[in-house]
Amino acid sequence: MSGYLIEHPILEFKRGRKVTFFFEEQKLEGFEGQPIAAALHAAGIRVLRYSDKYNRPRGFFCAVGKCSSCLMEVDGKPNVMVCMEPLQAGMKVRRQKGKEDHNDRCSMSNTK
Ligand code: FES
Repeated sequence: MSGYLIEHPILEFKRGRKVTFFFEEQKLEGFEGQPIAAALHAAGIRVLRYSDKYNRPRGFFCAVGKCSSCLMEVDGKPNVMVCMEPLQAGMKVRRQKGKEDHNDRCSMSNTK
């Protein structure tokens, strides 16, 4: 939980309760209701998926649901825009390759 800004001179942070979720094989913590991508970013996870054609790492880009840079598999459902999807306790989040169908899953753990 060290990747969070705790205090700010002019901004106030209203956060949900602390929850546990899973990124591939890692157990992580975040705040309920925050975007999944924000929780991953705070945990040091920068690569959210890999491009289809050249297998290039993709991370946060627009952060407002306008590109497809952050598509991930969430609870078995592919192509979830994690910059827009609220974090919930126990979610299982995985990287994916391209715009995936279920049979095309990549497993590239240990890559940040
Ligand atoms: S980062 Fe662009 S849609 Fe999520």
